[in-house]
Amino acid sequence: MSTHVFNVNGRRVSVECDDSVRLLWVLRDLLGIHGPKYGCGLNVCKACTSHINGTAFNPCSVPVSDIKESDEITTIEGLAASVGKDLHPMQEAWLEGDVAQCGYCQPGQIMAAAALVKEKGADISDDDLDQIRNICRCGTYHRIREAIKAGAAKM
Ligand code: FES
Ligand code: FES
Repeated sequence: MSTHVFNVNGRRVSVECDDSVRLLWVLRDLLGIHGPKYGCGLNVCKACTSHINGTAFNPCSVPVSDIKESDEITTIEGLAASVGKDLHPMQEAWLEGDVAQCGYCQPGQIMAAAALVKEKGADISDDDLDQIRNICRCGTYHRIREAIKAGAAKM
């Protein structure tokens, strides 16, 4: 067991666990942060998508020992606060577009979308949107793409 210290959603956290434990289980089981979802655990489904230092990543595939003390992890729970609002513009667009069906994939979809628009800018193209590989078993892809464009215009 080792002590791991880093930042999550603006809060300094310290956890005791083996170095090999993947960050997704640290977030969910040790820190009680359940927004990032478990789908595959293999960096395929993208249901766990969160941000590390503002960039999208998949914590199911990152051992906690790879996280540095200075790293800032943001999950869906901290996305709005990262822009100083009650809701991030992408969350507003999601609600306005009534995007979610079962909802399971949606935190990861929103986190992927927010990071992509931050990287590419508001004038996001269909080719840019093709970079989002998050799986939605309910098939909400059309509404997701429309919401990303709407959210991008407000970011
Ligand atoms: S649970 Fe992380 S990519 Fe599937
Ligand atoms: S809304 Fe159900 S998996 Fe995407």
